[in-house]
Amino acid sequence: MKRIIRKAILPAGGLGTRFLPATKASPKEMLPIVDKPMIQYAIEEAQACGIEEFIIITGKHKRAIEDHFDTAFKLEESLKKSGKKILLEEISRLNLLNFAYIRQREALGLGHALSCAGPFVKEEPFAVLLSDDIIEPGDHLLRDMINLYKELTSPILALEKVPLSEVHKYGVVKGEKLRDNVYRINGLVEKPSPSHAPSDMAIIGRYILTADIFPVLEDVEPGKGGEIQLTDALSGLLKKRPIYGYLFTGKRYDAGDKVGYLKATVDFALKNPQVSVQFKEYLLDIAGRLKHT
Ligand code: G1P
Repeated sequence: MKRIIRKAILPAGGLGTRFLPATKASPKEMLPIVDKPMIQYAIEEAQACGIEEFIIITGKHKRAIEDHFDTAFKLEESLKKSGKKILLEEISRLNLLNFAYIRQREALGLGHALSCAGPFVKEEPFAVLLSDDIIEPGDHLLRDMINLYKELTSPILALEKVPLSEVHKYGVVKGEKLRDNVYRINGLVEKPSPSHAPSDMAIIGRYILTADIFPVLEDVEPGKGGEIQLTDALSGLLKKRPIYGYLFTGKRYDAGDKVGYLKATVDFALKNPQVSVQFKEYLLDIAGRLKHT
């Protein structure tokens, strides 16, 4: 069957200020959750949906991302020679995917990052994944969004209900419920204060977009934080076509935040067969000690 969504764009040009000093010279996207860099979780999530072409928007100090997804001939040879089959499989699993890198010359915002990919996407719909939102691998958010796109053939935004005290961290939408978990969006605001939030439904880092977002992005003025915001471009696009929201009720980690990153690390470690038993013992030990403090 013909795949409708073949390409994914992963903006990775941001400065990663929340993780300084770790991100002074290394990409935030390469911070590991147990033994895999954050961005690899997003790539694998898209790969599981049949996506094979990845456009990564990079910037200064981001070369490690390109090296990570490149073949590592010498390393592969050495693992082969020493019979380390599992490790060899692990590092060569993504070799069949196609990666293209576009350099965002200045970190001018998510909308600007996306517009850098415009000339390379042409007319087809595509997915956008923000790699610091990590979705529990069994939860199939992107797959559900792609299926919804097939039915509605208009942009689909992943939404999550968040406490009002957190709306200032997200793009927030106003939507009319069409059926369980599916909304038609009537308005969007980037990072509103709780009193100006149109609802408690926040956009999380998964989008299925159509190529008509690119001309709109060209005309968007700098918005919140002086940046070119994707949310503002989506508000513009809403005047021309419907946009839908898919309410996600599974597990998401905001790994762009230190506490979210630590939570993801702990949960993924507990599921990792190599370390889970020992790590659980350690956590139980800590929990016991904490009870008495
Ligand atoms: C970006 C978007 C925002 C969205 C969020 C999801 O914000 O601008 O609309 O809700 O991603 O993670 P950022 O987290 O880059 O500040």
